[in-house]
Amino acid sequence: MTNVVIVGGQWGDEGKAKVIDLLSEKADIVIRYQGGCNAGHTVVTDGKIYKFHLIPSGILYPGKICLIGNGTVINPEVLSIEIDNLIEKGIDTSNLYISPLAHLTLPYHLALDELSEESLQHNKIGTTKRGIGPTYIDKIGRTGIRVEDIFEKEALSSKLEIILPQKNMILEHYGKKTYEKQEIIEFCEKYAEKLGPYVKDISEITYNALKQGQTILFEGAQGTMLDIDHGTYPYVTSSNPISAGASTGSGIGFTHIRKVVGVFKAYVTRVGEGPFITELNDDEGGKLQEIGQEFGTTTGRKRRCGWFDSVGARYSAMINGLTGIALTKIDVFDSFEQVKICTAYQDRRNGKVYENYPSGTYVHKYLEPVYETMPGWQQDITGIREFSDLPGNAQEFILKIESLTGVPVEITSVGPGREQTIIRNCPI
Ligand code: GDP
Ligand code: IMO
Ligand code: MG
Repeated sequence: MTNVVIVGGQWGDEGKAKVIDLLSEKADIVIRYQGGCNAGHTVVTDGKIYKFHLIPSGILYPGKICLIGNGTVINPEVLSIEIDNLIEKGIDTSNLYISPLAHLTLPYHLALDELSEESLQHNKIGTTKRGIGPTYIDKIGRTGIRVEDIFEKEALSSKLEIILPQKNMILEHYGKKTYEKQEIIEFCEKYAEKLGPYVKDISEITYNALKQGQTILFEGAQGTMLDIDHGTYPYVTSSNPISAGASTGSGIGFTHIRKVVGVFKAYVTRVGEGPFITELNDDEGGKLQEIGQEFGTTTGRKRRCGWFDSVGARYSAMINGLTGIALTKIDVFDSFEQVKICTAYQDRRNGKVYENYPSGTYVHKYLEPVYETMPGWQQDITGIREFSDLPGNAQEFILKIESLTGVPVEITSVGPGREQTIIRNCPI
């Protein structure tokens, strides 16, 4: 039994789903612990592409129990479509269970997300507009609707009687569509019927699994730098993607968790607004975007691209207590003459050098990256499966990341396919 958290080390889209899918083979249970359908997780196997927003990527292995934990926020319509799509493709979803404690993203949350972005004018967060922030606001404000509420008609009705006038007041003020209690009730009823069979007290499942020494894989969404506490606030998401979130978002005490694997791209991408110290606004950034096919899975937006930031990665290693790194998309560099790694930041106002990530964000806009340049390998590595078969310069690049972060690179991904992977030390 080695319970492992897989966490995004950067700003999301690091390739977490590929790593989860890979490791699911050896796990008994896979659990999503935070976030909602803002996540877009892509798995490529046997030439087929699967895109997940809410369902754990482990679902592709028959017999694995997949859980959507209490820390997530669920748009029932999106989940329902996702389930249907999987069933259509012949994937068994009978081992999928949803926590009754997870909060629901309802139509007014989407409207409020849209409105919030609109009203921020020049300071937009660049959210996915999936209603994530407003759903978590209600959770923390204790006015949320949870999965369990949709099976309790009277309770749901009386909750909406209090909540909806508050939401409508804001929407009306900005001239937006307001919501009738009945339409929300009908929406909930529609999905209560559909999702009912999947709702189960997941603490019972995980309790028994832990007792039997089974292996649990925790699937993070988003990434460390999007963490509501430790990320580049306010340009973050509204949950805790970091490893600590795995415990609160699943109801599994952290003493049961043995390992934390941080997934990092060999470069960095970011969707949405906010500081990005190693961002490239030149041809090299364009090349990364093009070769890496850096378009958001959820919104289709172009991802901003930049060089690997080892200062941020060290911070991420500390915040998450990383025991290993999964380094993805290193093949994107195959045609590059040289590659760069940011080893420090320098304040352009006074020359002050930061070797450690400054978590206070006001200074970020003054920071410039200090780079170490390494020679590229200019060779197709997508067919390589052993570390020792990699070109020397690719090995050097990986070892440099290890030495700069102080964390072993256990997995290196050289392509989107499940098999396009070099495992030096399997965390499970
Ligand atoms: P996630 O949100 O962290 O799960 O990542 P996404 O699925 O949003 O984005 C990662 C993208 O990169 C997906 O399209 C994957 O199929 C793809 N991918 C994952 N690993 C590799 C890799 O090693 N090389 C290449 N070229 N693509 C990869
Ligand atoms: P996965 O799990 C990349 C970003 C949005 C925006 C910020 C807040 O696929 O890695 P939100 O809708 O969460 O309120 O938006 O967070 N964001 C992501 N960026 N990958 C994701 O998920 C993301 N989920 C949210 O672009 O900047
Ligand atoms: Mg993604």
